[in-house]
Amino acid sequence: MSQNFFITGANRGLGLAITQVALSEGDTVLAGCRQPEKSEELKKLKAQYGSHLVLIPLDVVSGSSIKEAAVLAAKAVPQIDILMNVAGISPGPANATLEEVDLEKCREAYEVNVLGPLQITRTFLPLLKKAKNPRVVHFTSGLASLAGKGEGGFYAYGVSKTALNMLSRTMSFDLKKDNIISVVLDPGWVQTDMGGPNAPLKPLEAATPIVKTAKELTAEKSGQFIYHDGKQLNW
Ligand SMILES: NC(=O)c1ccc[n+]([C@@H]2O[C@H](COP(=O)([O-])OP(=O)(O)OC[C@H]3O[C@@H](n4cnc5c(N)ncnc54)[C@H](OP(=O)(O)O)[C@@H]3O)[C@@H](O)[C@H]2O)c1
Repeated sequence: MSQNFFITGANRGLGLAITQVALSEGDTVLAGCRQPEKSEELKKLKAQYGSHLVLIPLDVVSGSSIKEAAVLAAKAVPQIDILMNVAGISPGPANATLEEVDLEKCREAYEVNVLGPLQITRTFLPLLKKAKNPRVVHFTSGLASLAGKGEGGFYAYGVSKTALNMLSRTMSFDLKKDNIISVVLDPGWVQTDMGGPNAPLKPLEAATPIVKTAKELTAEKSGQFIYHDGKQLNW
């Protein structure tokens, strides 16, 4: 059955690849990004998929932008089946030491990677509640794992993504009454602007299992930390 996706950060990297995969599978994608009119890739997909792709301006750190995006989404589709909080940042040098780390970069990372998904999910609840099997997938990282932490660094990024893990787990309890599933998903190390050229996976190689996993999520998975293939990961 075709699904309605809302994807943040849909203009490049993983968000764009997931948009492509979902569209190719006959789903409808509401693509949220800061400047949709500037994304040549999204414009090409729009020409190909027409009304199955809706471009929605969205800055995940702006409450008013998120509210406007939800209004546009409600005009476009009756419900959101799968909300993907993909937009994320890794500001500052990842290897900054404790002495070097810039607190402003840590704040920026928290705003985008934690408060963004919180505010977006909260604002999109009415549309999620209209779905039969609503699912929220927050994009985390292997670098967020406490159990897997074996070296220093990644103060801004890793710490914010660990907070996102707790956010998703907390939401999974609060949203149970509405049958809304919430998971954090590690996409793997992927060749994007963030992942860099040495990553082993191309965006479409990660996006394909991500879309499958999102579609197959069941209530038992809610609150989990999973890999792109749906396998449960250690916190
Ligand atoms: N690539 C990897 O290896 C990897 C590994 C683990 C986890 N992840 C996670 O997967 C997600 C996607 O990563 P990626 O590799 O695709 O990153 P990317 O290529 O750097 O793309 C980041 C996306 O986030 C958007 N974004 C950033 N700040 C935003 C804001 N304030 N409002 C709206 N959009 C904003 C960017 O939009 P603009 O173009 O407007 O900046 C862009 O679309 C992230 O959450 C990342 O942490 C990636």
